[in-house]
Amino acid sequence: MNYLVTGATGHLGRKVVALVGTTQVTAAVHTPAKATALRAQGVRVVPCDYGEVAGMTQAFTGQDVVVYIPSKTYSVLQRITEFENTLAALKQAQVPAVIFVSFYADQENNPFTMSPYYAYAPRRLAGSGLRYAVVKNALYADPLVPYLPELIARQALIYPVGDQAMSFITRDDSAQALAALAVKPQLRDHGQVYTLTQMQSLTMPALGAIMTTVTGHAIGYAPVTTQEFGRIYAPEGDGEELASMYAAGALGLFDQATADYQTLTGAAPESMASFLTRGWAATKSSGQA
Ligand SMILES: NC(=O)c1ccc[n+]([C@@H]2O[C@H](COP(=O)([O-])OP(=O)(O)OC[C@H]3O[C@@H](n4cnc5c(N)ncnc54)[C@H](OP(=O)(O)O)[C@@H]3O)[C@@H](O)[C@H]2O)c1
Repeated sequence: MNYLVTGATGHLGRKVVALVGTTQVTAAVHTPAKATALRAQGVRVVPCDYGEVAGMTQAFTGQDVVVYIPSKTYSVLQRITEFENTLAALKQAQVPAVIFVSFYADQENNPFTMSPYYAYAPRRLAGSGLRYAVVKNALYADPLVPYLPELIARQALIYPVGDQAMSFITRDDSAQALAALAVKPQLRDHGQVYTLTQMQSLTMPALGAIMTTVTGHAIGYAPVTTQEFGRIYAPEGDGEELASMYAAGALGLFDQATADYQTLTGAAPESMASFLTRGWAATKSSGQA
């Protein structure tokens, strides 16, 4: 079987590639210069630009399963165009199965900037004639680790979600589930939808309590307003978009916990306490805290 992973130089893509295994996997990459490490591991690398149907068709030809990891552009129209181009290439290349990597912010009343895209893509797949499955990730837990020093200084989480809980998944676990699904045709190809979350969603005081135990520093919960959150993180370039995402959290839309990770892998996802403990130990040993 031949498996192709798009976005293969990205944080998630490179983990999926490593798990599927170098002999069967093709890494489809946007910027070939970023693929040096993949090539060094013996992975077959092909160019892939979501803007170019012909190139993607060439890359996809002969593949049995394509794992499609979207780009991170915050333009809904551009992301939809990239997706439409990919659908055209998948059809032209007659790819038998596709796995669409999504995000759980797809509800009708979800105010996240990208929610129209996450709502659109599965509906479009449903009428495409392609065989597919959708894997929705919860919020990645990973960015919480480099955020810990700032939270220690603030002495509190500030997400504007009130008393609502949100669920998370680590990128490692997301990659595990995607790699497992890719090689299990009985679990895909029929429009199945999986939502990858840890076992429990967490209110912000509960998340702060875990962070307090892990770091030994008191981290409570002092929410700012959605507008203030957007202003605080505006210098990082995506404050407004992140604020819109946590506005969805405040509506309770991220309070989802499923057993889908277990269905795909047969194991339990890593808990937040375990993940942050590992991440904090690595941060301290690298001298970053
Ligand atoms: N669940 C969450 O909390 C969460 C958070 C953030 C993002 N996400 C989503 O999760 C997915 C993966 O995230 P990530 O952290 O792995 O992102 P990432 O590291 O930015 O990876 C994205 C990949 O897409 C590639 N790409 C960008 N534009 C492309 C194009 N026009 N054609 C082909 N490939 C292109 C990038 O290649 P280049 O670097 O060469 O451009 C990169 O390899 C994304 O779809 C993202 O929207 C989820």
